[in-house]
Amino acid sequence: MSPTLRTDERHAEELAILYEISKTLATGREMASMITHVLAVLHARLHLDHGTLVLLDPQTNELAIEVAHGLTEEERTRGRFRIGEGVTGAVFKEGKPLLIPDLSREPRFLHRSIRRNLSGRTVALLAVPVRLHEETVGVLSVDREGGVAQGELERDLQFLSVVATLIAQVVRVRKVLTPALPAAPNPQDALSGVIGESLVMEQLFDVIRRVSSSRTILLLRGESGTGKELLARTIHALSPRRDRAFVAVHCAALPETLLESELFGHERGAFTGAVARRPGRFELAEGGTLFLDEVGDIPLSIQAKLLRAVQGLGFERLGGQRTLKTDVRLLAATHRPLEEMVRRGAFREDLYYRLNVVPVMIPPLRERTEDIPLLVDYFLATFNREHGKAVTISPSALTLLTDYHWPGNVRELEHCLERLVLLTTQPVITPEEIDALAHLLDLPKEPAKRAAAPPPSLPRSVQELERAEVVAALERTGWVKARAAKRLGLTPRQLGYRVKKYGLRPPEEGE
Ligand SMILES: Nc1ncnc2c1ncn2[C@@H]1O[C@H](COP(=O)(O)OP(=O)(O)OP(=O)(O)O)[C@@H](O)[C@H]1O
Ligand SMILES: [Mg+2]
Repeated sequence: MSPTLRTDERHAEELAILYEISKTLATGREMASMITHVLAVLHARLHLDHGTLVLLDPQTNELAIEVAHGLTEEERTRGRFRIGEGVTGAVFKEGKPLLIPDLSREPRFLHRSIRRNLSGRTVALLAVPVRLHEETVGVLSVDREGGVAQGELERDLQFLSVVATLIAQVVRVRKVLTPALPAAPNPQDALSGVIGESLVMEQLFDVIRRVSSSRTILLLRGESGTGKELLARTIHALSPRRDRAFVAVHCAALPETLLESELFGHERGAFTGAVARRPGRFELAEGGTLFLDEVGDIPLSIQAKLLRAVQGLGFERLGGQRTLKTDVRLLAATHRPLEEMVRRGAFREDLYYRLNVVPVMIPPLRERTEDIPLLVDYFLATFNREHGKAVTISPSALTLLTDYHWPGNVRELEHCLERLVLLTTQPVITPEEIDALAHLLDLPKEPAKRAAAPPPSLPRSVQELERAEVVAALERTGWVKARAAKRLGLTPRQLGYRVKKYGLRPPEEGE
């Protein structure tokens, strides 16, 4: 039961939630995945439980559950209503919000959809229409437990109406897009974005096809840039959870307390700066996939808690008492030598065995050079499309790229080709052209396999390149912006924007 917040606190909390929701809805992910996240936020932050979105199925003229927080697949498919039937049907038909303070006294409530064992508890039901251009297209409903004051319930109802307005926009986008999509996209297509024809990669695809549909934990191993995250997303896209959230946590990026709160959430006031309750990634991934990236970087202090969660024994939010359990499929990745870390005592052995159920080793690119021509074709096509160009590559240039040892693996190859497409003025990339651009590509001048060559630095980003071009033009023109713009083929306004974006100033002013 949530404590009743003061009005101004509640107002601030609502704004924060709306901000979080609108950010989620702006990600443009699969509709179900975004709305699942929204319902998880309502659950975690406002104690609005059993959030459910039903939408009209124009084919059957029935209302079908589109997304529901905490329902199994089977329970979801059971929840179909006719227009006008039950509470949901009534809200749909009338197009008006409905507040039922005590469900147990509501004759219209159809128990069939579910789960709710009301024995002895007071549960309020709040339902609002989802409307698009004066037309009702669905119903958003939630429960609120525990005999809450009428005023607060009304406030919840108002808030829910605002959330329904945001959701309506997402429904609209899907309606617009749906006719263009094939009726039933073949989930196997998900693998088409992972390029590889070497024997090892074929074998790996085979393993992935076989384990995707299960809940098996996969531990993805491989050097930086070999495609661990790409594979994790692909496995999710191939799994029955593909319409639910894919939530990634980069475990190396955060200090200890923040990482713990990121994973498991926190209660208000759990630590300095914890001004509001926040659900963790384990909660946000409900029904979907949780990807623990750089799992080898999780500090020992958090490993015990993670082990419990992985064993399905639940977890508590930081500063919280309640044990929460969520239904998530775990994927993990690391480039660290976990076995050695276990020996050194830096990684728990029991956790290692839990995560290492199906180890997937992605070999470095230099050990599967057969994949390079296909990857080059793929990236050329991608970047030609993106930058409106039609660059091709000569056979000798392709050999040169195939012979290079690619310490940054596929990521490095991808960046290299993007820059080649962007920078070349020739229709065909030749070895000479690569040589001429080498200083911008971060490849050594002779990219042959020179074992003794020092590893080249990480590829520079396109942004850094753009910045360097602007600086060079400004320097060459003595910071006369109009001339620099002309050199770069930009309008003065476009140049002004870039100067501002990169915070560039002439050297005298700079000090
Ligand atoms: N087989 C592949 N086919 C197409 N693209 C790939 C392939 N492997 C990797 N990539 C691309 O290379 C880039 C790096 O991949 P990804 O981020 O998955 O690597 P990673 O193993 O997670 O690296 P890191 O350890 O540095 O996080 C991405 O842009 C990804 O799309
Ligand atoms: Mg990664």
